[in-house]
Amino acid sequence: MDHFLYKNGTLHAEDVALTDIAASVGTPFYVYSAATLTRHYHLFTEALSPLPHMVCFAIKSLSNVAVLKLLGDLGAGMDVVSGGEYRRARAAGVPGDRIVFSGVGKTREEMRLALTGGIRQFNVESEPELRALSEVATSLGLSAPITIRVNPDVDAKTHAKIATGKSENKFGIPIARAREVYAEAARLPGIEVIGVDVHIGSQLTELAPFEQAYLKVADLTRQLRADGHNIRRLDLGGGLGIPYTRSNEAPPLPMDYGALIKRTVGDLGCEIEIEPGRLISGNAGLLVASVIYVKNGEGRDFLILDAAMNDLVRPSMYDAHHDIVPVIEPAPAVEAAVYDVVGPVCETGDTFAKGRPVAPLGEGDLVAFRSAGAYGAVMASEYNTRPLVPEVLVGGDHFAVIRQRPTFDEILNRDTIPSWL
Ligand code: LLP
Repeated sequence: MDHFLYKNGTLHAEDVALTDIAASVGTPFYVYSAATLTRHYHLFTEALSPLPHMVCFAIKSLSNVAVLKLLGDLGAGMDVVSGGEYRRARAAGVPGDRIVFSGVGKTREEMRLALTGGIRQFNVESEPELRALSEVATSLGLSAPITIRVNPDVDAKTHAKIATGKSENKFGIPIARAREVYAEAARLPGIEVIGVDVHIGSQLTELAPFEQAYLKVADLTRQLRADGHNIRRLDLGGGLGIPYTRSNEAPPLPMDYGALIKRTVGDLGCEIEIEPGRLISGNAGLLVASVIYVKNGEGRDFLILDAAMNDLVRPSMYDAHHDIVPVIEPAPAVEAAVYDVVGPVCETGDTFAKGRPVAPLGEGDLVAFRSAGAYGAVMASEYNTRPLVPEVLVGGDHFAVIRQRPTFDEILNRDTIPSWL
């Protein structure tokens, strides 16, 4: 459930009409619902109770500092994958001991930043990274709490570009070699082994792959304990999928996912961490755009919007489906028109949907892309020198711009012409 509903014939974010935001901010813009973000976060904390746990929001899905403050104030931890994301979490007021650092390519500089600023744990993904972390921590006279991310060789049954748990993927250490690497970790100075980490992919729509992975993690935990390691925390990653259409999709509910976690690893007495991104942010955000033109093509009509692939890249990058709905509710009797929905960017890949039934629309009409809160704004660019799309947060009957649209002066002033030209 989200908080984007038609009220008096206009699509609202909570109690704010999207037409009001469009009039004040211009289009395109992203809009997030604070109530939906809050609700989604609590679905996970309820699903994991009464196990000791921390829900670490995967910042990569939606990293605006205002959103991080909202979730951080609810008690959420944060999963970061870069020094930049670490800085965002801290800027949002999240203490270091609630931040976990994931990612295959942490630099020594990023390690120093997190060690000196405070960190809950590093999820280490390779032996060279482990050795680098040992050196950096030792040089600072500190100890780095770590888990090792294991690759369980499980098929997540999701889009190839976002599956991470197969042996051919770049992520983690093959689970078969994990004991050897834990043994090295235990010998290294400046390293404190505290747990095991796994993440097998994103937009998973079945529980079975999680179950396979978590059972392997449970076995490994028992072996590692027998080897003498004090394994007290399991980071089970993110990846639970969301419905992108309102019709037939029914991915597993957080409550069922929580029950699975209890069933597979609940008896180990470990603190459980999860790193959900999409399920918290995805259906908490819309991208709102205006129709520039309706163009009659050869056997098809193009709905040309002022949003483009640079604002929401998921359809062109992953063939992802986003529901597209008119902001002004069509009368019940109106028959849908069928459009190829496109943006103004100069490549054919700038297509959001082909042959999509939408209510008949004309120039200046507003449309909303649903399920755009995750991996939307964060993946936006200024391709074609289109200003980075702004973000708006709604809470009840308030809204605030939480990232301004840059001016063209700001954009052009970032470039410099060398003196020798
Ligand atoms: N933890 C780790 C280590 C991850 O790599 C990811 C996502 C997550 C947690 C969060 O996964 P989630 O709960 O959001 O599924 N840009 C793609 C998705 C990339 C996901 C990358 N890793 C998309 O738009 O579908």
